[in-house]
Amino acid sequence: MKAPFILGLALVVLAVFPLTGSAQETAKISFNDTIKPILREKCAHCHNVETLPDRFSVESAELAFVKTKAGQAIIVPGKPDESLLVMALESPKLHEKAMPMVGPGPNVDEIKLIRQWITEGAEWPKGPAGKIEPLFKAKE
Ligand code: HEC
Repeated sequence: MKAPFILGLALVVLAVFPLTGSAQETAKISFNDTIKPILREKCAHCHNVETLPDRFSVESAELAFVKTKAGQAIIVPGKPDESLLVMALESPKLHEKAMPMVGPGPNVDEIKLIRQWITEGAEWPKGPAGKIEPLFKAKE
């Protein structure tokens, strides 16, 4: 009576764990659920076309995937180490490119999420689905 039960239990455990493992590996970071709130709260009040007209803006995919005047890409899908956005966030606070310039930035976990999102291909929906409305717009 006991042996089949234990065997059955072992099979169930074996069946469930590989499944949950692979489910976690394939669950990509969601732009809308995870990345959008960080950019809206920590960046959008400066990085919008009104406050910083000649810089990249986080208001939409069309405005975010741009290069700096010096020709450096801000977000390179799949390549966080080539993305100026990641460099700016991971820089020590005193580095000239450290972001944000003023105010609280993303915490360590949020920076990891942004890095991971870029590694996974930096999917940012085009059009209205990917729009970020700044909470307020800083005046320079
Ligand atoms: C208080 C305003 C402010 C906030 C908040 C802010 N930035 Fe910036 N950011 C600036 C300014 C101003 C520059 C231009 C700096 C320079 O020329 O040295 C800049 C430049 C950058 C650059 C370099 C690209 C460029 O066009 O020069 C990146 C990347 C960047 N910011 C990312 C971010 C990210 C990501 C956030 C949110 C976590 C953020 N910033 C929050 C003001 C801000």
